[in-house]
Amino acid sequence: MSRSAELARIVRDRAGAEPVSHGLILGSGLGHIAGEVAGAAIDYADLPDFPHAGVSGHNPKLAVGMLEGRRVAVFGGRAHYYESGRADAMRLPLEVLKALGAERLIVTNAAGSLVPATPPGSLMMLSDHINFSGLNPLIGEPTDARFVPMTDAHDPAMRAALRAAATAEGVEMAEGVYAWYSGPSFETPAEIRAIRTLGGDAVGMSTVPEVILARFLGLRVAAISVITNMAAGMSDEKISHDHTKAMAPVGAAKLERVLRRYLRDLD
Ligand code: HPA
Repeated sequence: MSRSAELARIVRDRAGAEPVSHGLILGSGLGHIAGEVAGAAIDYADLPDFPHAGVSGHNPKLAVGMLEGRRVAVFGGRAHYYESGRADAMRLPLEVLKALGAERLIVTNAAGSLVPATPPGSLMMLSDHINFSGLNPLIGEPTDARFVPMTDAHDPAMRAALRAAATAEGVEMAEGVYAWYSGPSFETPAEIRAIRTLGGDAVGMSTVPEVILARFLGLRVAAISVITNMAAGMSDEKISHDHTKAMAPVGAAKLERVLRRYLRDLD
């Protein structure tokens, strides 16, 4: 049995065998939503070979159960490339998600904004992304499935449904292009000017490898950033991880409303 099938069996033993419809990955400062799932919460440490998602502000549990009438699997924390040097750090968790029956994935993150009209506390749904890292989670994958098309990787129908949910909740949600920088150092102001020139609207240290892996696995995917700061050089505010954690809850409340409404209103 493959590792992901074994882990999916452990999850089913703890959380019940009914398939999940959606996966959700929670970003920095957004992990509390995992606590609102009515079901089982499994520590990553109880899932052999699951990555160590040790960044403060994350909640490294997999919560499987009901949220707004849908059966979901919520990853309370993610593993980032910068923790291990592995761009495919989230491959096993996403394979487990697929093995649990999920067809769709929503990825969330905390990000810096390059757009003055989208200040800290705002939401920005990703219309597309730019991989500035030079890395790819599928390097080393031997099959032809590695040649994943990335046109419309951010699923148009899911984006439309998330947009409708935001409108129904009266939550403003911008849309833009997310640029992946590896981290863990923040960007320089010169890098931010370059990213802006090249078409980035938000910048962060995650999400892109997960979107690539999701498409590789045949999961439909959409992503939303919670803007925690203006990117380097764009404001006088100091950029730090403490600041990210402090600001994330401002946008997280809006994000939660959008996500709950999206799940509630699904056909
Ligand atoms: N840059 C990269 N990652 C981030 C930022 C940022 O400005 N804010 C939150 N995560």
